[in-house]
Amino acid sequence: MPDRPLSILFVSSEVYPFAKTGGLADVSHALPIALRELGHDVRVMLPKYGNVSERRNRIHEINRLKEVPIAIGDTVELATIKSSSMQNPRTKVQAYVTTNFTYFDSKKGLYADPITGEPYNNDERFIFFDRSVVTTCLLLGWFPDIIHCNGWQTGLIGAYIRTMHAREFAKTKLVFTIHNAADQGVFPASSLEKTGLPKEVYPRITHAKHLNFTKAGMEFADAITTVSPTYAREILRDKTASGGTPTLYRNYTIEGILNGIDSYYWNPKTDPFIEHHYDSTTWKEGKALNKKVLRERMKLPHEEKAPLLATIARLGEAKGIPLLIEVLPALLQEQVQIVILGEGDPSLTASLEKLAAKHRSKLALFIGFDDALAHLIEAGADMYLMPSLFEPCGLNQMYSMAYGTVPIVRATGGLIDTVTEFDPEARTGTGFVFHDYTAEAFLAAIKRALALYKKPTYWASLVANCMSQDFSWATSARQYDAIYRRILSAR
Ligand code: GLC
Repeated sequence: MPDRPLSILFVSSEVYPFAKTGGLADVSHALPIALRELGHDVRVMLPKYGNVSERRNRIHEINRLKEVPIAIGDTVELATIKSSSMQNPRTKVQAYVTTNFTYFDSKKGLYADPITGEPYNNDERFIFFDRSVVTTCLLLGWFPDIIHCNGWQTGLIGAYIRTMHAREFAKTKLVFTIHNAADQGVFPASSLEKTGLPKEVYPRITHAKHLNFTKAGMEFADAITTVSPTYAREILRDKTASGGTPTLYRNYTIEGILNGIDSYYWNPKTDPFIEHHYDSTTWKEGKALNKKVLRERMKLPHEEKAPLLATIARLGEAKGIPLLIEVLPALLQEQVQIVILGEGDPSLTASLEKLAAKHRSKLALFIGFDDALAHLIEAGADMYLMPSLFEPCGLNQMYSMAYGTVPIVRATGGLIDTVTEFDPEARTGTGFVFHDYTAEAFLAAIKRALALYKKPTYWASLVANCMSQDFSWATSARQYDAIYRRILSAR
């Protein structure tokens, strides 16, 4: 008998194309679609922030879910849950969005003010969101087989379900996925009362005397996962990877499942954002055409021989941007052009701007977020720089390989699981890897890449290796499917 399809509610604070600050949004788009393609009834749920257009995203009201009261400490706020969907040409997934003016609609950023960088009252905002998820199921009378929670922002859902609504959700199993163990959702103990949870629950959602959403997520989950096998191990021993608290994670079993990439949006053959499509047989011409568009867009001169290096990242420590800034002066002495897309830390941004002003024909910056440009960069660049301090999975190195853009990465987390050093003798490997978090090691890896780029037949083997990698979601979606079924059969 074939396995029965499951009902799955996939919850995340960011979902592409509605709202995105990073890889979590891409995963929250592509994994539900891949699960739908396996035959499951999948629905996603996220908050509607102020910059999400209702018209463009076809978000509309649902009669039963208007102005639903949600308690936050002693006060009551109203949630209106609306409906939308996300799709690719093959399939469509239902989406629920939680709306509330004070918490979400009046805010332009997802977690912090985009101008000042000041975080919003995220304890209340995500207590509110998590309760809205539980309330939506109760009002719809829909108790899915699986609630799959992603990121600390969803960490309290399990606590509500297993304590205040244990009866209704008796058959529902919970998966909690850690997308970044350093970002735990930590708030002062005084925030505990705002949760409305019974006091006996407090120890299970508290770590080091603080409300900790991630601890709560792990406590009540039937399975805990993170986004690559190597990162699953690093969390338990590495201070940087775990946000300083490997001991918090050692109390739990955490499985690593590598993220995949969307095979429609992130595919040079079908990418709706690029003009010039290509595949592994036409990459040379395809890349040249896209590179031309990219240079024009970034106002870089046409330098026939200069390889184009790129990075797309949140401009912060985690992504190794300080290291990149350290190597740039030396790197800019080489015959290269460099494109950087991202936003984040104001002081790192200022350093990059200073360098770009000095080297206008070689270094081009786009400060901000631009999805179409991200696709064009992957299609037009020759090499991709990813010197992360730590990396739970990382998606851009996989996007890069799919587009024949050779990744230069630091050996950490998911980067170890996806990129191997090119061996010119055996012609195996998919990129250039360095270990120590130092400018010397990073620069040496870039120089290995630049030297190989000058040998076109070797470079072609390397690109071929990259483009033949299979990072499609199908494999990983099946691993999640197996976990869902395992926890559902464990009574
Ligand atoms: C976070 C991590 C990144 C991962 C993504 C999706 O953004 O930093 O490594 O790929 O989540 O899981």
